[in-house]
Amino acid sequence: SRSRRTRGEAVKVEKHLEPFRLSLEKLQDVSARLRKDMLRGLGKHAHHRAAVKMLPTFVRATPDGTEKGDFLALDLGGTNFRVLHVRVLEEEQRVLKMDSQICAIPQEIMLGTGEKLFDHIAACLAEFLDSQKLRGQTLPLGFTFSFPCEQKEIDKSILIRWTKGFNCSGVEGEDVVRLLKEAIHRRGDYDIGSVAMVNDTVGTMMSCGYRDQSCEIGMIIGTGTNACYMEEMKNVKRVEGEDGRMCINTEWGGFGDDGSLKDILTEFDEEVDKTSINPGVHTFEKMISGMYLGEIVRLVLLKLTEEKLLFKGCPSEALLTPGSFETKFISEIEDGLENAKKILTKLALDWDLVDACVARLVCDTVSSRSARLCAAALATIANRIRTNRGLDHLKTTVGVDGTVYRKHPNFSDELQAAVRLLAPKCDVSFLISEDGSGKGAAMVTAVAQRLALHCMLNFL
Ligand code: GLC
Repeated sequence: SRSRRTRGEAVKVEKHLEPFRLSLEKLQDVSARLRKDMLRGLGKHAHHRAAVKMLPTFVRATPDGTEKGDFLALDLGGTNFRVLHVRVLEEEQRVLKMDSQICAIPQEIMLGTGEKLFDHIAACLAEFLDSQKLRGQTLPLGFTFSFPCEQKEIDKSILIRWTKGFNCSGVEGEDVVRLLKEAIHRRGDYDIGSVAMVNDTVGTMMSCGYRDQSCEIGMIIGTGTNACYMEEMKNVKRVEGEDGRMCINTEWGGFGDDGSLKDILTEFDEEVDKTSINPGVHTFEKMISGMYLGEIVRLVLLKLTEEKLLFKGCPSEALLTPGSFETKFISEIEDGLENAKKILTKLALDWDLVDACVARLVCDTVSSRSARLCAAALATIANRIRTNRGLDHLKTTVGVDGTVYRKHPNFSDELQAAVRLLAPKCDVSFLISEDGSGKGAAMVTAVAQRLALHCMLNFL
């Protein structure tokens, strides 16, 4: 039959997939490299050149359950831009999303000027305030801004560089809070209260922390990937003070930007990097997150087609088009062969049953690598928290969010299984964050207010 393949062909397919298969020893090695890079990032002087930036967040405490009040939240940097109204209820230890609205950010704004971007954000916020009849109240605002920022204070946050699909001029090196406030003042028709800047990982950790106070790690595996965790202040050399803890935004997406992951990069990763809008940066993220996984799969399928191992050697127009293989196809294809057939048909490919199985194998190989790399990085953090505290055994919870983690049929299982092997002395539980970047941002703002109040009371 035309769908039969020779053993030789199977071997050739495997030859291209082999570089994606990382052994446990390799993952341990990757984890050891990240451990060193995290130390470098925390250092006072070394951090400028560090690939893993380890950014202080000025979040010094996780929720203690006494926070309360009404807040606004903005969420920029994930799949959608959102505006939210959030209420934190002390009695019930709950965070309620009162209402929220998604605002589209057109491509021309994502790649336009910073001024236009912030005018757009201010306009969306105005529209939302009107729809909620909140104009006139100056509510505190938590801004989930999911990009690497050098934070000077909770309300002063300088964008280091854009990542993922954004590239607006005049924002890198600037204080994002100032840009937001200026845009609101340009309109002059409403005002906001105090602002707290929050990375999405931090929001995720904080929103889970209200329910589970051992939640001291936040992780995102969505459009991008990143994690934060509670570090001992005495190790955070760039912020004064020795006592207590501070949440550190690792920006692990940048791991490998100094070439340290060269040995595990495949030719396909190099191609994805070259054709991205930010070549040379966020190497680790490009092997893992939703913005890139589909494209990696497309490039592998294309290569196998060129070598006449798939689709009778004929790529379709779609397969030849960058970005045409969406990351969500990976989840769908792995979910069942019927889906695989539908998607291959949609991509106008002339497939047979073996092609469908090979395509599924490619998806599985690429998503498994992503899950295992995340596991290596997460294990590094868990092990660090454990040794920081001088414990033989650590029990901890990770707040997680992101489309890849949520939607893929077995990503979370693979991740957990690998973490268990890579951090055997840690008992890591996972808690999916419900709307971390919205509710979490409100939590950060609320905790900041609680701490400010305590601080004031101490003076009285
Ligand atoms: C990118 C951003 C980071 C964010 C992550 C997940 O890596 O640089 O700040 O947390 O995406 O959205």
